[in-house]
Amino acid sequence: MAPVKNGRYLFNEIPSGYPIPGQTTVYDESETIDLDTVPLNGGALVKLLVVSIDPYLRGRMRRAEAKSYNEPFKIGEPLMNWGVGLVLRSDSSSVKAGDHVYGYFKFQQYEIVDATRVLVLENKEGLPWSAYVGVAGMPGQTAYHAWKEFAEAKKGDTVFVTTGAGVVGATVVQLAKADGLKVIASAGSDDKVEFMKSIGVDVPFNYKTTKTAEVLEKEGPINVYWDNVGGESFEAAIEYAAKGARFIECGMISGYNTSEVYQVKNLMKIVTKQLHIHGFIVTDLMPKYNPEFYSSFVGRIGRGEIAYKEHLLVGLERAGEGILDVQSGRNFGKCVIVVGEDKA
Ligand SMILES: NC(=O)c1ccc[n+]([C@@H]2O[C@H](COP(=O)([O-])OP(=O)(O)OC[C@H]3O[C@@H](n4cnc5c(N)ncnc54)[C@H](OP(=O)(O)O)[C@@H]3O)[C@@H](O)[C@H]2O)c1
Repeated sequence: MAPVKNGRYLFNEIPSGYPIPGQTTVYDESETIDLDTVPLNGGALVKLLVVSIDPYLRGRMRRAEAKSYNEPFKIGEPLMNWGVGLVLRSDSSSVKAGDHVYGYFKFQQYEIVDATRVLVLENKEGLPWSAYVGVAGMPGQTAYHAWKEFAEAKKGDTVFVTTGAGVVGATVVQLAKADGLKVIASAGSDDKVEFMKSIGVDVPFNYKTTKTAEVLEKEGPINVYWDNVGGESFEAAIEYAAKGARFIECGMISGYNTSEVYQVKNLMKIVTKQLHIHGFIVTDLMPKYNPEFYSSFVGRIGRGEIAYKEHLLVGLERAGEGILDVQSGRNFGKCVIVVGEDKA
């Protein structure tokens, strides 16, 4: 077969605020690949089917010398994230042609990967591949693992969940309801409030039109706080936390695209209320909880016991649009880029 185009989505420029599609990131079709003859050197040739867009990608768009828990993206190189691909050819005993694999892939249509670093998905649950990068992938693991590790959930407790309509937040909401908690949750639009109601949130509200502090004053005190946004929400959660409340510090998206980060004014109450603050990065919890996540939680998703919503964009060239949607709240559900058709 003649070589085909191998479209890639590249990091182009470090953003100063929100990442701009076509400027911060660009689509490139200058490379080609011969799918029949490209040497595999012990690896596997994977066709990318879906790739996830997650908030943390913004944090990798930084200066090379700025230290964090992950590496910065390199200018001119493809972005990378969790995805599902179809194995076209394999030189490895770990995978075979026709397998569907979950792994950390480049944003490019075809890639030769180290087959020992991907997970073969049997998909007995019959889920769409997009679900395996969302509720049944890293974001679902974030909710499941950290809830198990840090919530110390007790029936009758009250939890406040931020970004309650997003994939992490909505999964946390459902875990908390299953454990018998009263759930207060916030999101940024009225249709997201309706969705939160539909998954069992007791007190759903739109934080853009209702003050978080007023809701927590009325409905608190809270025993658990799931933080996805930081800033004013974090401050309100501290203010209306019960003594000894558990704070699960998952993310602080209100500060990802600005240098003017909100200054929380009541930090001393962490001391006086004896709060337990748990920051975490999900990859550190994966060895402990991934086995039960795949053996039991994914089955619950397949049986329809865990609801989820998706925000699908078709075409790798739309990755920048997806990144901006997630940073600005235009996504309604898990943002996934559908890159290729599920056929060799
Ligand atoms: N610690 C970890 O290992 C880990 C792993 C995965 C994810 N996370 C964190 O989990 C959080 C949720 O991730 P996700 O994948 O489920 O994303 P998501 O909720 O699907 O999308 C992000 C949402 O953040 C909200 N948002 C954007 N700007 C905001 C602002 N200025 N103030 C308040 N809310 C804002 C928007 O929802 P609204 O319309 O409701 O505002 C947007 O839809 C993020 O903070 C992410 O960084 C952490």
